[in-house]
Amino acid sequence: MNAKAPINNRPEIPVREPGLRPSAEVPRHFHGGDPFLSAFFAALSSVFPDGERFFIDSVRHYRKELRDPELIRQVRAFIGQEAHHGREHETFNEWLEEKGYPMAPVISQVRQGLEAARENLSPRHQLAMTISLEHFTAIMANRFLQDPQLSRQLHPEIRELFLWHAVEETEHKAVAYDVYEAVEGDYWTRVLVMLEITVFFWMHMMQITWDFLKHEGNAGILRMARGLGWLWVRPGPLRKLLPEYLAWFMPGFHPWQQDNRELIEPLQRRMAEWELPARGEAAD
Ligand SMILES: [Fe+2]
Ligand SMILES: [Fe+2]
Repeated sequence: MNAKAPINNRPEIPVREPGLRPSAEVPRHFHGGDPFLSAFFAALSSVFPDGERFFIDSVRHYRKELRDPELIRQVRAFIGQEAHHGREHETFNEWLEEKGYPMAPVISQVRQGLEAARENLSPRHQLAMTISLEHFTAIMANRFLQDPQLSRQLHPEIRELFLWHAVEETEHKAVAYDVYEAVEGDYWTRVLVMLEITVFFWMHMMQITWDFLKHEGNAGILRMARGLGWLWVRPGPLRKLLPEYLAWFMPGFHPWQQDNRELIEPLQRRMAEWELPARGEAAD
């Protein structure tokens, strides 16, 4: 299969509105009582709302140049899904703030960084950032859906939020990529921007996780080393992403070369009650 493969045969991209908000009884250390892993998941959530708005705008910039009606339909659904991710994670971030995570300064820092990217980088660079980060979310979603080590210890109310997000990141994992291929498609840009994003994203994730731990008096080299060891060495769910991450650098890469529809099908059925009616008009 190559990047220009037809996009029939892919999962539908329904827009859902789950309306999830953890109850007050859910503990602050919602990942198995572990401060590091809870801070790491809170760090992921802190970057989602502004990150997803950035994704939407970078794709929307090109919508008038698209000719394939199926891709135009998928872009509309992608925008709908990402807009709902932003809203649900804003609600979750409010809950995290109430639990004592210092979300406001982190979110404002993320916002400023993305604002600077919008002002200073070309639309092509911004779209390449989006497809790189969408590759991260797709492979992390895949790991989350198939590896109980990541999800088992999450409090069920919070697991539900991340499961829903993982299903939708899988459903729309190729949309921004197909837009990039249709309008820009430069191999070296996507490769170089992926390298830039890899350093930038993980540095920020670790910085935010550290800030959250420090705020609650739980930061320390040992705790950080143990947490990083869990993520990267044993059991190492992030290390296991490496082959999927590296696939990006193949010239003929396409997100659906990894066909993982069977992972989401039972969840799609369970989440059908959250689906909104399909919109006929452009979501712009
Ligand atoms: Fe998302
Ligand atoms: Fe996404």
